[in-house]
Amino acid sequence: MAVAVLRGRSILSTVVASQTRHEAFGGVVPEIASRAHLRLVTRTVETALAEASVRAEDLEAIAVTRGPGLPGSLIVGTSFARGFGDALGLPVYGVNHLEGHLYSTFIEQAGPELPFLSLIVSGGHTQLVLVRNAGDIKILGRTRDDAAGEAFDKTGKLLGLGYPAGPEIDSLAADGDASFHRFPRTQLDGLDYSFSGIKTSVLYYLNRFTESEREKLVADKLNDICASFQAAVVEMLLSKFGQAIEKSGVSSASIVGGVSANTELQRRALELCKEKNVKLYFPPRAFCTDNAAMIGVAAQMGALQLIDSLGTEFIAPNLNL
Ligand code: KG4
Ligand code: ZN
Repeated sequence: MAVAVLRGRSILSTVVASQTRHEAFGGVVPEIASRAHLRLVTRTVETALAEASVRAEDLEAIAVTRGPGLPGSLIVGTSFARGFGDALGLPVYGVNHLEGHLYSTFIEQAGPELPFLSLIVSGGHTQLVLVRNAGDIKILGRTRDDAAGEAFDKTGKLLGLGYPAGPEIDSLAADGDASFHRFPRTQLDGLDYSFSGIKTSVLYYLNRFTESEREKLVADKLNDICASFQAAVVEMLLSKFGQAIEKSGVSSASIVGGVSANTELQRRALELCKEKNVKLYFPPRAFCTDNAAMIGVAAQMGALQLIDSLGTEFIAPNLNL
């Protein structure tokens, strides 16, 4: 659960209440998450206000994530926001989670100029969208199965890493040899992605060995395996990203969402965009993964009109947001 207090696009405070209890399960457990949200929501909001030295009565508006996400947690967030807004007589804006990511490049910095292409790449989504105007977003491509972040997390699990595995694979890969093993790159026609094959190919690769050989391999070559896997994912992501840039003819682009923090993805994407003469933006590093500031910025920049434009989202029943 994350809460931020903003003045315009500047952050006055940002508080994240992380839930470490999920780690033992290798992923987020929805029931644990929603109960924890319920327990933490009031305290997290109070802490964020105190850290910002802002009184609740001085707020001008409240923004909250509507979805997509885990329904139980979303109900806690939207219900709290609604009640808090009613009590204070404030407007409450519901923001689409993916639009939050889209606007994360505008947190405390100038983001891309319209029209721009964006690769939204997180644990739940992988989409290429063309933002022509506020309220005019076109999805050019999306994953047909797993999201890229999910591929990082599932591969990490196979390699015995913690959850989420993306950041750990990123740092292990930094000291690895990406040419150690060539994992197959899935390339669909058009601009859609598929990431379910890469995790299976890591599994098949590991299963080639006996248990003791595998343990030794993972112990000795973990950096190289991570670098090889990461190179394949980055290549798949950027190949379609490059094609989408060509197709849409934009001169600005962004990469957002948790996986956009990836060092190798950032390095290769900057090279690609330099070659294509496209100005590339990332969120400030701390705001690549889910955060509250992006939701506040999106609400202020008119994301409200964009609601529903990015596919599935959870809408709490009878919640007039
Ligand atoms: O946007 P996000 O925080 O949550 C969703 O909306 O899903 O993205 C989380 C995902 C996780 O799968 C995590 O492993 C991945 O982002 N991630 C990374 C890195 N940092 C986070 N993947 C690769 N490299 C990173 N440095
Ligand atoms: Zn996200």
